[in-house]
Amino acid sequence: MNNEWWKEAVVYQIYPKSFCDSNNDGIGDLEGIISKLDYIKNLGIDTIWLSPIYESPMEDNGYDISNYYEISSLYGDMNVFDRLIKEAKKRNIKILLDLVANHTSTKHKWFLEAIKDKNSKYHDYYFFSKTKDEKKSSFGGEAWEYVPSLDEYYYHYFGVGQADLNWQNENVRKEIVNIMLFWLNKGVSGFRLDAIELIGKDLKNNVIANGEILHSYLREVMEEVRKSYPDFFTVGEGWPNVEIMLKYTANERKEINELFQFEVPTYTWKEGPLGKFSCVRRSNLELKEALNKWQQGIHNKSYLPLFWENHDLTRSVNRFGSLIYPESSAKALAAILFLEEGTPFIYQGEELGLVNTVFENLDEIKDIEAKMLYKEYVEEKKLYTDLEFLKMLNVGCRDQGRLPMPWNSSLNLGFNEGFKTWIKVPNEYEKMVASSQILDDNSVYSFYKKLISLRKGKFKEILINGSFKLLDFSSTNIIAYQRLLNDKKLDVIVNFSDEETKIELKNLNIILGSHNKKINKEYTLSPYEVIVLSSEV
Ligand code: NOJ
Ligand code: CA
Repeated sequence: MNNEWWKEAVVYQIYPKSFCDSNNDGIGDLEGIISKLDYIKNLGIDTIWLSPIYESPMEDNGYDISNYYEISSLYGDMNVFDRLIKEAKKRNIKILLDLVANHTSTKHKWFLEAIKDKNSKYHDYYFFSKTKDEKKSSFGGEAWEYVPSLDEYYYHYFGVGQADLNWQNENVRKEIVNIMLFWLNKGVSGFRLDAIELIGKDLKNNVIANGEILHSYLREVMEEVRKSYPDFFTVGEGWPNVEIMLKYTANERKEINELFQFEVPTYTWKEGPLGKFSCVRRSNLELKEALNKWQQGIHNKSYLPLFWENHDLTRSVNRFGSLIYPESSAKALAAILFLEEGTPFIYQGEELGLVNTVFENLDEIKDIEAKMLYKEYVEEKKLYTDLEFLKMLNVGCRDQGRLPMPWNSSLNLGFNEGFKTWIKVPNEYEKMVASSQILDDNSVYSFYKKLISLRKGKFKEILINGSFKLLDFSSTNIIAYQRLLNDKKLDVIVNFSDEETKIELKNLNIILGSHNKKINKEYTLSPYEVIVLSSEV
């Protein structure tokens, strides 16, 4: 690995179904993405991660792939994809695909062959068993599904339509190598690896996540692909602690480049299987400690992907910020994240400071996870009424992050010009549309743009490689840290609270502020105000 370009990258995640609909069928598509490349470029983005765009029955919006070599007809075709790559390249934007390799759709031809004939070579591509045990699907209900034609059960960690692949089978690993090479040959620059921590499972011994064997699988697959593409990038999805993350990503291990961690982004979740449906705001002290642990733990050993939001999470302003100060808290979150060490990931709409909507009834919610949990907890176990469950889904359901992007103030907020959208367009977005934020120097969008240009400009070195140290202020309202490299220092000071907070400043060399106020030694930060100061040591 020589060119670690991803350390300098700023990644923008697109959930294609909800990004931009070019043909008014209600569903976002690749042509829509092409039409917004200039918007993405204008923000300063150099890398896009596309959630799955392959052929799929779309039970889990593409995380159930039925053909890894075709584009979903809902999104376009291979010609449009090739054009997307070409148009992105013109603008110096790299594309990452989302590779779902832990499981396939049960409509995939491998699975169809596997259930047709026990002696087919594809039978061993999956986990079949004569008996089932107590294992649960993470979406609710049992993890084993009966196949009458075989008189066997198959294992699915996620939905019934998402059968887990058996990575113990060498041919499965070869298939994955071929899929990666196919798309790299087409010009993509790497992959986000869905649920990668699950590929080393040993069901008999109840090992599900982080099975030790997966490290040898990853090395084998990556080594093979790196022979042709030494600089391709991989970021895996996992729920690791620091020690586990390093097993996947430490510089000397050459497995994957980065692994997401969810400890910080989900620190508002309560414990337990339905914990995310009843968030709690914890203290700034806890958040600071969590940030610090990851920054110190990974520094110089590998590189951290930084994120608050993705397509599986609700909007971060609702989880961490304040609905009294939504714009300021969106900016505060952006600053805390962008000025840390790591690769920043923005999820579509986060740069507009989007907030959660209120779903008025259960029919408005489309997510398979919500539906399966409803079946288990309301229909079967009768633990909640419909209304109680709706309230919980409003707090935690994944559709909060999957609503159409608000581009302008016209019909459907510019997502399309048609009469339908696959999921509702929320009223809450009316005041946050992209077209007006682009023109407003004080908007959340413009603040993101400024943060990105800090990373790309004069402060690039210190932001990419500088060490991280928490700074202490007397008030617990403040989250502050310092980045340090050689003789340069950058102080990031955020009033992460709803209260005005007084601080004393020694250094008044401000390089970025969210409130455009004049600072002085005795300074009162407004709620969620950010200031960034620089100095030479
Ligand atoms: C994680 C993905 O991010 C999520 O959206 C999906 O439902 C599961 N993996 C299954 O692929
Ligand atoms: Ca469409």
